[in-house]
Amino acid sequence: MWKVQLFKLNYDEKESKAVKDTVDSGWITMGEKSKEFENRFANMLGENVSAIAVSSGTASLHMALLGLDIGIGDEVIIPALTFVADINVVKMVGATPVLADCGNFKNWNVTAETIEEQITPKTKAVIVVHFGGYPCQMDEIVELCNRRGLYLIEDCAHAPDARYRGKACGTFGDYGCFSFFTNKNLSVGEGGMLVCKDERLALKAKYFRSHGMSALTLDRHKGRTISYDVEHIGLNYRIDEMRSAIGLVQLDKLKNVNKQRELLVKRYIDKLSDIEDISIPLVNLENIEPVYHIFPILLSPQIDRVWLIGELKNRGIQSSIHYPAFRDFTAFRDIALNDAPVAEDIAKRELTLPLYPTMSLYEVDLVCDSLYEILELERV
Ligand SMILES: Cc1ncc(COP(=O)(O)O)c(C=O)c1O
Repeated sequence: MWKVQLFKLNYDEKESKAVKDTVDSGWITMGEKSKEFENRFANMLGENVSAIAVSSGTASLHMALLGLDIGIGDEVIIPALTFVADINVVKMVGATPVLADCGNFKNWNVTAETIEEQITPKTKAVIVVHFGGYPCQMDEIVELCNRRGLYLIEDCAHAPDARYRGKACGTFGDYGCFSFFTNKNLSVGEGGMLVCKDERLALKAKYFRSHGMSALTLDRHKGRTISYDVEHIGLNYRIDEMRSAIGLVQLDKLKNVNKQRELLVKRYIDKLSDIEDISIPLVNLENIEPVYHIFPILLSPQIDRVWLIGELKNRGIQSSIHYPAFRDFTAFRDIALNDAPVAEDIAKRELTLPLYPTMSLYEVDLVCDSLYEILELERV
């Protein structure tokens, strides 16, 4: 149906074989493959982190809030421009979400300034999102959280192996939360990883992941124990062996995949940066090594986004929006949320163009040529 899709999987026979081998092995619930996935993911991040593989990015965020004992009466600062998972988990633990605005129209990430404006005596934690795989300016944010005594959670759903001053995203705060959902840079279908440096917080998270139990099914299978205790209350947020096996294959591909994404984004920037009605955010930010999860552009106010999405669709180009404002969703219409004018304006004018590692430069050109044609511009 599409000439250029928004996203395509970069799977080949390696992922198929990994799943088949796992199924054939006779062990499919969380076990040795998941342990290996955790260890290799932690090694990639460095910094001596523990990695805990889970069933989704949302599960990792929920576990982070539970691990930090955040609940009723607490305020949690989250970006105004992000996926609903961040506001949902805050509401789910009974805390109050408070919105930090984007830095500006060039830097869509939250900044120490936009976070600090929202701190009150009730603020207990901050969730930052490295939007689109572009790291936030972490020195200032870490300093702010330390100075004001706030927990810091990094939502790294867009940012596996993205770095700020050479240090991996996910290793700056109390917990780092990764998603391996289908369209992510590292994709297993549904899955996630929670990382942290503090052993006590890691142990707490492991209890939440598996019913608060002292032993896993695998331990009983291997004869390491005949029973278990339930030491805490917990949930079932475990990953399984098929997903971990795919995760290991995808982890091997990640560096190349991120490089390929960079090449494609450079081509987009070359082709689109002179168009008056389009501005490209998050370029030329200092001290960062982004991983180019999506390619967002900002349309000038006179462009009708719905019309443009339709015109692109007529030419076989899929596009999307990251993200609608929370207020636009029924579930958040009636809860008191503070204003975030920059994010709200971006939410009305943002358009995401196709980007995936197996995309060709020809396909990038096709998207750009369609934009020239629709906006009646000379091709470059
Ligand atoms: C910024 C952000 N946070 C959290 C999530 C949730 O991850 P998952 O879909 O794995 O639960 C996503 C996924 O789309 C995301 O983009």
